[in-house]
Amino acid sequence: MSTPISTISVRPEAQGFKPYSPGLSINEIKQRYGLAQVIKLASNENPLGVSPVVRKVLESKAALAFRYPQCGYPRLRQAMAEALGVDVARIVAGNGSDEIIDLLVRVLCRPGQDHVLAARPCFSVYGSQALICGVEFRQVDLNPDYSLPLTRLAEMADERTALVFVTSPDNPTGVAAKTDDLEALARALPKRTLLAVDEAYIHFVDDEQRASLLPRLASLPNVALLRTFSKAYGLAGLRLGLGVLPPELADIMLRVQIPFSVNLLAEEAGIAALSDHIFYEETLRVTREGRAYLMSELAALSCAPQPSQSNFIMFTPPQEAKAVFEGLLRRGIIVRPLASYGLADKIRVSVGRMDENQAFVSALREVLGA
Ligand SMILES: Cc1ncc(COP(=O)(O)O)c(C=O)c1O
Repeated sequence: MSTPISTISVRPEAQGFKPYSPGLSINEIKQRYGLAQVIKLASNENPLGVSPVVRKVLESKAALAFRYPQCGYPRLRQAMAEALGVDVARIVAGNGSDEIIDLLVRVLCRPGQDHVLAARPCFSVYGSQALICGVEFRQVDLNPDYSLPLTRLAEMADERTALVFVTSPDNPTGVAAKTDDLEALARALPKRTLLAVDEAYIHFVDDEQRASLLPRLASLPNVALLRTFSKAYGLAGLRLGLGVLPPELADIMLRVQIPFSVNLLAEEAGIAALSDHIFYEETLRVTREGRAYLMSELAALSCAPQPSQSNFIMFTPPQEAKAVFEGLLRRGIIVRPLASYGLADKIRVSVGRMDENQAFVSALREVLGA
């Protein structure tokens, strides 16, 4: 006889766990509104799609999908280390950077004793993985101008702070921190505290003072950097991210990691993506051009766009954000309402190809009756 589910003991953290709330999918919206064409500007994906170099490699490697990948993905780690100019001993790849976030929490934080610190709002996975591990998640509000509250994060940290997450450029604001300020935070934290700077969107920065902490890592023993292939490299669906970590921590994370979580095709695609400089440069060009266009059009529509160093823009429409979001959906444009980030009056739009950006602007104009 099967056991009734109610007798199974489930951890309280899992009982009430709120799942990740993703952007809506194209198919959902096509079905809901009977639309033939839908433009998705909701998840900060690469508007150019998959690099042709990567596509070719994926096709040629498809027949190997029945094999396990090489454990510990040494070729991928080597390619990542060379691309970033760091020792391979620092590199851990993951099933998306989400897996690296999860590993950091599991490896560093003692349930019921330690806590994780981050800004509010922030990328939801930092908090969700802390909570499911039984680790307290503490937050510090962003500054009123949406800059990251780095000084207050330093003040809030104590000997029980195992991990501080900072996203730069930040999601959903697009605001990037100065590298000097990030370094000051790293130095101000207790020695046992790891500062994880999530650089998912670092490729899109054009302010040199707000670039990566990568060149300073050697002198910052308590800093880890997170990168993803989901944005500038166009591989969101394959799931590939990486951490550049203090070598001793990388070693432990590699031992703890679920075997083969980076799949064989993601490994091959990642290596190929790092070699395709043409696609990468074109992605940056299209993003910067589109970002400048959207900034000026959103400002002209009184939508108060927040200047962004990323591949998305947060804005405040002059009418109720939820109604604007729904009006855009009915016209086949998916953007991201920010109520789940606690910013109910705001919307985030990803920078698309120019034709997509123009379609978004003309739909928004219609919705606003402008
Ligand atoms: C700040 C930030 N970090 C990490 C991720 C997750 O990236 P991945 O697709 O590599 O798991 C995202 C995805 O949107 C993000 O915005």
